[in-house]
Amino acid sequence: MSSQSRMMTLVAFLQAQNCSNLPGSWRHPSTILDFLTPEYYQRIARTLEDGKIQMAFFDDRLALPDLYTGNHHEAIAAGVRAVKLDPSTILMAMGMATSKIGLGTTYSTTYYEPYHVARVFATMDLMLKGRVGWNIVTSLNSAEALNFGGEKHMEHDARYDRADEFMDVVMGHWNTWEDDALILDKETNRFADPNKVHRLDHHGHYFNSRGPFSVPRSPQGHPLLIQAGQSGRGQAFAAKWAELVFVIYHSLEAGKRQYKAFKEAVAAEGRNPDHVKVAPACYVIVGESEDAAQEKRAIIESLAKPVDGLVLISEVLNYDFSKKGYDEPFSDEELAEFSWHGFRDRVVEMSGKKNPTVRDFVEVSGRGTIKEHKVFCGTPKSVADQMEEWFTAPACDGFVLAATSMPGTYEDVARLLVPELQRRGLFHKDYEGPTLRETMGLPIPRAADWHARRKAAE
Ligand SMILES: Cc1cc2nc3c(=O)[nH]c(=O)nc-3n(C[C@H](O)[C@H](O)[C@H](O)COP(=O)(O)O)c2cc1C
Repeated sequence: MSSQSRMMTLVAFLQAQNCSNLPGSWRHPSTILDFLTPEYYQRIARTLEDGKIQMAFFDDRLALPDLYTGNHHEAIAAGVRAVKLDPSTILMAMGMATSKIGLGTTYSTTYYEPYHVARVFATMDLMLKGRVGWNIVTSLNSAEALNFGGEKHMEHDARYDRADEFMDVVMGHWNTWEDDALILDKETNRFADPNKVHRLDHHGHYFNSRGPFSVPRSPQGHPLLIQAGQSGRGQAFAAKWAELVFVIYHSLEAGKRQYKAFKEAVAAEGRNPDHVKVAPACYVIVGESEDAAQEKRAIIESLAKPVDGLVLISEVLNYDFSKKGYDEPFSDEELAEFSWHGFRDRVVEMSGKKNPTVRDFVEVSGRGTIKEHKVFCGTPKSVADQMEEWFTAPACDGFVLAATSMPGTYEDVARLLVPELQRRGLFHKDYEGPTLRETMGLPIPRAADWHARRKAAE
């Protein structure tokens, strides 16, 4: 595909909680704090749909971030992601207030059962007419294990092995009903063709699941698959399954390298690299003038508190950072235990230290501040210039836009940035839809093809 005809994919990075990605965002003067009501989420959805954003997606965590200091007091007192609502329920509320925007959410392969996940997402995809995506995650810490009857979080690579088998089961169920299985002939009493409804009969290492699945196919075949693995094992998983991949790039050069390597990995899986979109997370701060943008940035930067980063780093690395002196290096054994390998490795690489300290993790990762992700700040023109540079390099196919205030960030994106990107021919003028796959320029899979491939592989 020529770079001329490529269109940028923009995704809003949402949280079903009291703050955005930036924990201090709940303290922002323009944030509206009705996050326990459907109106909060519906307002954001309508704003994003006005801006033609292809998809809004929710991250998820199955526990409060209570590893730091060994309990929940610090996180609750300061509102550091102190609320986490079930995102699939919220997705439906947003879907009822919109008709075109894609809606994605995160569900864990480590703590849920595949039949349950397959049914929730297939049902949502029918109710939202083919607009749904699933962000496949393996989860991050022992607090989540403790909420689901376990004691310890599973080991890193075993989590991905379980996730691979999870996908075999989910995909198997999603392909149970062939596209033309439903007949609906009242006269002849033929509801559906039983030869076009297949039973899975899965017997594996982690799961047994028989079927047949009880939900027919949606207008986009089945929900879009999203993933964000960063480690070698995580990237291999993404190359095999994902259609949209979230990444964290700290420089354009690193992004170009990783983008190229990842697309090669997708091709090595026998898949078309153009059918897997890569989107780095970023913060966008856009103002009517450079001064206005810088003023917004100063307010945002003043929101972060030291506790924000410490709570959120402990959460994702599955390690209580209060146990360590601020300038004490972590031992090799401690580093090996950290849960999110990509996050750990980035700090090791960027600090230039084999054994970084707590200070290195806080300062290099920037977690809990806008420094955590690439920041595009300035006028619509200068922000569009920066995004265009990344897009055409190419280092990405689009961006996951994290917010610094709700719904303020997305109002600025829709009102100021999108028209500039559209003017340059970098962003679509309207939804190609009606389904999310069509809007993203991705093919709609057919169940019969899946069965033919499976048969050929036997
Ligand atoms: C943009 C982005 C969003 C993510 N959202 C979630 C999430 O909602 N829940 C979760 O448990 N992990 C989330 N992760 C973490 C990844 O799913 C994955 O666990 C992490 O990158 C560790 O993978 P690795 O060990 O392969 O590096 C996210 C990562 C990125 C980059």
